[in-house]
Amino acid sequence: MTAKTPFRICVLGAGGFIGSHLVPALLRETNADIEAVDIDLHKLECHDLRLHKVKGTVRDLDLMGAVTDRCDLVISLTALCNPSLYNTRPLDVIDASYTDLVPLCHRCCDRGRRLIHFSTCEVYGRMAIDSSGERTETMMEGQTSLMLGPMDRERWTYACAKQLLERRIWALGKHHGLQFTIIRPFNVIGPRMDFVSGVDGEGLPRVLACFMGALMVGEPLRLVEGGSHRRTFVGIDDFIQAIVKVVKRPDACAQKILNIGNPENEVSIAELAELISAAYVRQVTGATLAGTQEVTAAEFYGEGYDDSVARIPDISRAMELLDWRPKTSLIDALPPIIDDYVSRYASVLAQSRR
Ligand code: UGA
Repeated sequence: MTAKTPFRICVLGAGGFIGSHLVPALLRETNADIEAVDIDLHKLECHDLRLHKVKGTVRDLDLMGAVTDRCDLVISLTALCNPSLYNTRPLDVIDASYTDLVPLCHRCCDRGRRLIHFSTCEVYGRMAIDSSGERTETMMEGQTSLMLGPMDRERWTYACAKQLLERRIWALGKHHGLQFTIIRPFNVIGPRMDFVSGVDGEGLPRVLACFMGALMVGEPLRLVEGGSHRRTFVGIDDFIQAIVKVVKRPDACAQKILNIGNPENEVSIAELAELISAAYVRQVTGATLAGTQEVTAAEFYGEGYDDSVARIPDISRAMELLDWRPKTSLIDALPPIIDDYVSRYASVLAQSRR
């Protein structure tokens, strides 16, 4: 470890998908003590003398005061990041993405703590456009305009709140000395992702969890607007490797915004449905497929939904600053996810259908 490596790190939202992968990696790859904070820590199964699990929320100002006193680095991961919530619980989404985190950012600034904040690729909005409104292929941190939809498309409450927090952090950095790095993840996938509806959560999770839920009960995979929208998916191991490097390179990453994703893994959602169906049949004995079914966005998500039509990150900044590049293909990323869903849910789902 270099002298700059922090010795006590607070991970807020440590019990979520990304947190449950990041905390063990930080224990492995640094000497730091970790304070892992979340209301639900059941996904974080690891134990270590350097790991301190704390049940709590970012809304608890006393707790936030205490962790920013104790820790050199704060990593903030908390979010309500399922698109089905953006138009059904917009006020909660705005609070979770912005209001609740403002005091934390100021505390980090006042106490001279470094902040690594997880924002979102959603801030780029519907599509990649440059400053004159021309479409570009990739989304670039320093050049792409941020294009959100009109007010009645409540989808964009999340992106707008996330963008405002980014702007606040940026201003705290530029005018008040906060040392920060902002991460914009592009569709991270891996084991321990979202819930399955009706088992350990209600409503709609993100696309891979929707597809796995349907595959395990033999229902068709639903393709919103024909599955024409495009995404790039990055495997969790590649993603975590980049974040550990951000932690270890405070000077190089200071006051930077970084796209972290895998532009090579670009597919339409219809193609993703084909890939995961084929992998599922290869992997799960006796599996049968029910095909796909097209649905409109209004049927699936309700009024006020909107979408990013395509989202490809330019990752040259991250590659240069971190000496990193993602390696896992989409085909290779899917089997561990299928295993994880099948081991966690298949028997519960089978019982509930008896
Ligand atoms: C979401 C969040 O809004 C982002 O903040 C986050 O960065 C991102 O996930 C992520 O996973 O990193 P989005 O990609 O729109 O963004 O989330 P999904 O719910 O996974 O949807 C992807 C696409 O699949 C959308 O076009 C959606 O309409 C479609 N979809 C979803 C289907 O066609 N069928 C489904 O069953 C579910």
